[in-house]
Amino acid sequence: MKPEPSILVIFGATGDLTRRKLYPALFNLWREGLLPRDFAIVCVGRRDISPSELYRDASDAVHNFSRRRGHSQQELDAFLQRLSYYQLEFHDQQGYGGLKDYLDQVDGIWHTRGNRVFFLAVAPIFFSIISRQLKDHGMTKNHDSWQRLVVEKPFGQDLASAISLNRDVRSIFPEENIYRIDHYLGKEMTQNIMVIRFANTFFEPLWNNRYVDHVQISFAETIGVETRGTYYEQAGALRDMMQNHALQILSLIAMEPPVALDTESVRDEKVKVLRSLKILEDDVVRGQYEGYRQEDHVAPDSQTETFVALKATIDNFRWAGVPFYLRTGKRLPQKYVEIVISFKRLPGVLYFENEDLGPNVLVIRLQPEEGVYLQFNAKRPGTASMIQPVSMDFCQNCHNGLNSPEAYERLLYDVMRGDSTLFTRWDEVEHSWRFVEKIARWWEEGDHPLPVYAPNTWGPPASHALLQADGRSWLRFMTGEV
Ligand code: BG6
Repeated sequence: MKPEPSILVIFGATGDLTRRKLYPALFNLWREGLLPRDFAIVCVGRRDISPSELYRDASDAVHNFSRRRGHSQQELDAFLQRLSYYQLEFHDQQGYGGLKDYLDQVDGIWHTRGNRVFFLAVAPIFFSIISRQLKDHGMTKNHDSWQRLVVEKPFGQDLASAISLNRDVRSIFPEENIYRIDHYLGKEMTQNIMVIRFANTFFEPLWNNRYVDHVQISFAETIGVETRGTYYEQAGALRDMMQNHALQILSLIAMEPPVALDTESVRDEKVKVLRSLKILEDDVVRGQYEGYRQEDHVAPDSQTETFVALKATIDNFRWAGVPFYLRTGKRLPQKYVEIVISFKRLPGVLYFENEDLGPNVLVIRLQPEEGVYLQFNAKRPGTASMIQPVSMDFCQNCHNGLNSPEAYERLLYDVMRGDSTLFTRWDEVEHSWRFVEKIARWWEEGDHPLPVYAPNTWGPPASHALLQADGRSWLRFMTGEV
């Protein structure tokens, strides 16, 4: 399947996401010949901006944020030609009639056949109103063509608001035409998780509670909330990272092999994991970095967490009894995302008087390094029969020349060709909210401390205590420079 002729209509075109992610991703797809020949981008925003301002904005975005360098002005100009702007107040009903006429006109110029991707890069409060107006103005049905809706996270603020939002958009677009973005699913190594698991004889047979001792997934960031205080105050680490990215990665790690690689078969297996997730009230830890309350748009007595660590279990035959430790936090010492599968130790009969004998460990690195690291035991060279842990390290972006596509490149490409495998289906969102909401309620109703941790540390001591109580600790395996 290749992307089909279409117009990409970006609502919120003057915002940060469009600038940082969408323009650079679209331009890279364009350079690589991955956009359809018959293609146009219509940027919709509330500001009154001229075509030259739009081009300047898009060019600056490409210069500042694109992963690829060295394009010619000619290439950029050809891309900019496909771009135009339509000014609209999202509440203004009249404006939508004009938008429809404008899109029909663009169809005539670029032969885009009535196909539309409506990308809502706007605050979630506008999702329902924009979808409704699109419908009321005849933009959600156009014979012999397709109309798709792309929505950014957060999809709801809690389960109730997610259900209501879903009801609104589902009354307008069928599920198969709704693309709920979780940008972690577009990352190169996230897509690799299934390949590593299901295309290798030596991983899959061990991937269960007989051989795996525990799993750790860490999402560490060095930045704070920056300019996003208003949003983050409502979200916190639990809703911002756990509800979506962390649970999505967990479901890929723990799912059963799907019957086929088609969209629904994969999603069916992921949702089963989310439905089987269990957690106890004492197995969640939160924290707030020192200085958070002084950030812009943050309340001086804010109770918002910037760090969460938890221990969950998956109540099914494969995983019963295996703890999954997840943590995410801002202002930590390093930015990285890593999955650690720690295997059980062998019976202590032959080599176990040796103190250095570590467990076998498989690490899947999502970023900044992209690769797989394997730790096992081998004899230390020399006459003494000493054993030491050694490693094999595969890094696919550590060497020059391999520059993985940005997540949004893959995601935009997939929307235009109608493949929603890397997007979240409603029931996945629903079960993620059910899990997260349980925790949010404990925090609201119970007596749970919100310790402050110093920036540049690995969160509050309680996060370490959570693993220590089980005789384990957070693991981080260093690798070469990227
Ligand atoms: C976003 C969160 O979804 O993911 C941000 O809202 C977070 O708070 C970001 O910083 C992390 O994404 P990445 O791709 O930089 O790891």
